[in-house]
Amino acid sequence: MKVSIIGAGSVGASCAEYIAIKSIASHVVLLDIKEGLAEGKTLDIYQSATLLSYNTKVVGVTNDYQATECSDVVVITSGIPRKPGMSREELIGINAGIVDSVAQNILKYSPDTIFIVVSNPMDTMTYLALKKTGLPKNRVIGMGGILDSARFKTYLSLALEVPSGEIQGMVIGGHGDTTMIPLARLSTYHGIPISTLLSPQKLDQVVADTMVGGATLTALLGTSAWYAPGASAAYLVDSILGDFRRLLPCSVLLEGEYGLDDLCIGVPCIIGANGLESIVEIALDASEQEKLNQSAQKIQQMNQSLDSIL
Ligand code: LAC
Repeated sequence: MKVSIIGAGSVGASCAEYIAIKSIASHVVLLDIKEGLAEGKTLDIYQSATLLSYNTKVVGVTNDYQATECSDVVVITSGIPRKPGMSREELIGINAGIVDSVAQNILKYSPDTIFIVVSNPMDTMTYLALKKTGLPKNRVIGMGGILDSARFKTYLSLALEVPSGEIQGMVIGGHGDTTMIPLARLSTYHGIPISTLLSPQKLDQVVADTMVGGATLTALLGTSAWYAPGASAAYLVDSILGDFRRLLPCSVLLEGEYGLDDLCIGVPCIIGANGLESIVEIALDASEQEKLNQSAQKIQQMNQSLDSIL
């Protein structure tokens, strides 16, 4: 199994590293436009193979799309990351052109691949990749909800003082500070509703912290986060290559599901060998549905700025 990762920034490199360490694929190609960057990072990663006991071959290239030939999955992380004080949405102009050209170049050598879009603003970039490539919706998946859910579970675990891996929770909606919807009502600890374990105030705080999870890190780091974003993308790749059919919140094209149409937004999805296997329509309460509608409206407004290139 071969995975190509476009963009050797910190998210792309972390994703490559996790795929190797967890032996998710046999081959990983990391591609960047900056001379030597992908080569250097992959050589560094590959030199950990004997220490961490993996056999995944990790290779870096400068703009050589032929090296990505026959990729089963391609992860697009290219584009500029946000800086402190910036919203993900402000990146739209520059990143749209980059994501478009990456997708076209990839398809020349891997016409059957499945795309995972990580570049921000992620929901709009996923929609762009889908529209510009004309691929079926199962093959273009935006990664945001998995990361937001991981952050949600982390904050829940800190509030509850229990291991995060034992918490169930999901964030749907857009991958934006004001568009994501942590589903507090449906989160559980060993099946026990979290709402019975935390006070409403504490739960509200967890939700608020989750929504600005990325911005908090950007302020601390001076740039966008990478460990959890890279791990989230690798987890999504794993579900596809392993055909695990995990239920994961992903940004996919809606065509009537949840009463929404013609946008990519985070909803619960079954992810397997075909990429998006199906969208799961869970029963949202009125307030959750209203938040999803508002989130969709904001994303659709953003998508309008793609009009000139679609
Ligand atoms: C974040 C970026 C990857 O949320 O969107 O950290």
